[in-house]
Amino acid sequence: MFAGALLLLAAAVLLNTGLLLQPASAQGLGVAPDLLGAGAQATATAFEEFQDVLNLATVGGRGRGGRGTSGNLGGFSDARDFEQTQAAMYYIAGSSQSYLSKVIGKPRNQRKCLTCVAHAATEAVEMSVASAMHINRALLERKGLTASPISLYYCAPGGRSCNTGWDIPQALRNLEDAPQWLQPNSCMDTALAQEGLREAAVLNWRDMCRKAASQPACTAIKREQPLYTCSYKSLSSFYQIEQHIRRHGSVITRITMPNDWEVQFNSSMRTVKGLDAPPYRYNATAKAAYGHALTIVGFDNQNFTWTLLNSWGSGEAEDNLRVKGGVTADGMVQVRMGLLGVAQPEETYGVACEPATGTKENLHGDRPWLNDSHRRLLTPLPPQDNQGGTCFNYTVGPGDAVASIVDHFDMDIRAFVQHSTNRRLFRLEDFTYK
Ligand SMILES: *[C@@H]1O[C@H](CO)[C@@H](O)[C@H](O)[C@H]1NC(C)=O
Ligand SMILES: *[C@@H]1O[C@H](CO)[C@@H](O)[C@H](O)[C@H]1NC(C)=O
Ligand SMILES: *[C@@H]1O[C@H](CO)[C@@H](O)[C@H](O)[C@H]1NC(C)=O
Ligand SMILES: *[C@@H]1O[C@H](CO)[C@@H](O)[C@H](O)[C@H]1NC(C)=O
Ligand SMILES: *[C@@H]1O[C@H](CO)[C@@H](O)[C@H](O)[C@H]1NC(C)=O
Repeated sequence: MFAGALLLLAAAVLLNTGLLLQPASAQGLGVAPDLLGAGAQATATAFEEFQDVLNLATVGGRGRGGRGTSGNLGGFSDARDFEQTQAAMYYIAGSSQSYLSKVIGKPRNQRKCLTCVAHAATEAVEMSVASAMHINRALLERKGLTASPISLYYCAPGGRSCNTGWDIPQALRNLEDAPQWLQPNSCMDTALAQEGLREAAVLNWRDMCRKAASQPACTAIKREQPLYTCSYKSLSSFYQIEQHIRRHGSVITRITMPNDWEVQFNSSMRTVKGLDAPPYRYNATAKAAYGHALTIVGFDNQNFTWTLLNSWGSGEAEDNLRVKGGVTADGMVQVRMGLLGVAQPEETYGVACEPATGTKENLHGDRPWLNDSHRRLLTPLPPQDNQGGTCFNYTVGPGDAVASIVDHFDMDIRAFVQHSTNRRLFRLEDFTYK
């Protein structure tokens, strides 16, 4: 817990010295000082609560409810508050301490345009589709199930340009309201190639979007018949974020980029993988530079880090414009929890997507990917033990954890842990961590 205490201090100092100074050029997101302040505060609070629950769940500590105003473990304001903490505690105790998404692809590259929000949103869409179908990203691409950030950004209502930028909730609303602009990459890529234009040089997006929509791979995609069906939700606590990453591959978050990012990830990191590079750590003299959006694809609750996937390409690509650094070989970076507003409760969202009914992958809406090869074997208990026929025997396999079982069968973790039948069949002490 020593590292944790240090980190808390870092988060507190960050608030007091105010990482809220002098927002500069926005990388696609507004950086009003009050917004940055609120984000940093909310993240630090969420981190403290998370740490309290983690402490309670792992070492059975009493929490630090009496401390300050933010720890709420001592005085629950109501029963619902208590239930949420209880669910968080069970979930954390019953899940692995670190996790990395299984559906990470090659890093996207937004180049010069302020399209980070569209890149993060489409990245999350692809990861979620791959998670739903239990396939990797290479196979997803072979099936043509990609989502073009360019189509989403420039073609969805709003008339944006390379220099405009976008807000996360606005972008996500389009996943539900204008799903026809979730197109495979090939349509817009072909349209641009036919005109001999690069993204930054396009002046008339209306025509370009029409051209993309008339490509063979996209003519069937309509608002009433989109390629994917998506929903999104705001995630308000660290444990919900971790749960969403396990279920759907990633979450979308805002990050307040500091002016020492290229110092901590200097050009020598261009050839180093994100998990092999030291995490971004607190620097008292660093200041906020601009807002950015990316996806969180993993976490480590022992070392208190988030693993992020950025959209600045690979540092190993010859044409990567970021010569001063800031990039890694695989586009991933780790950031210490509680810093830079990562996973801030008001600006972190999860998407859940799957191929829409009526498309090749899901023609009759019966989700053919949910076939027996992915099902976990459940056998009904013998009738004498099974009044009502609702009890099943599940044999725990290697790599199973309470949280992964609960996620797989889509159960409520509180009911699962508290139900006496489950206690009889599962011995919780058998599976704390993996
Ligand atoms: C925490 O970091 C250490 C050192 O990098 C590593 O050995 C350990 O596996 C990490 N913990 C988890 C849960 O990944
Ligand atoms: C990058 O940072 C490391 C560690 O701080 C340092 O040793 C190295 O000299 C730096 N490299 C460059 C090119 O600035
Ligand atoms: C901290 O941030 C300042 C301001 O950007 C920078 O000059 C300095 O090198 C940073 N220090 C470390 C250790 O990253
Ligand atoms: C189950 O679905 C996967 C794809 O999700 C497919 O590769 C596999 O062939 C299917 N198996 C059966 C028995 O249909
Ligand atoms: C559950 O299944 C396993 C493996 O098939 C078996 O060994 C065990 O006895 C079963 N448990 C119950 C309660 O039926």
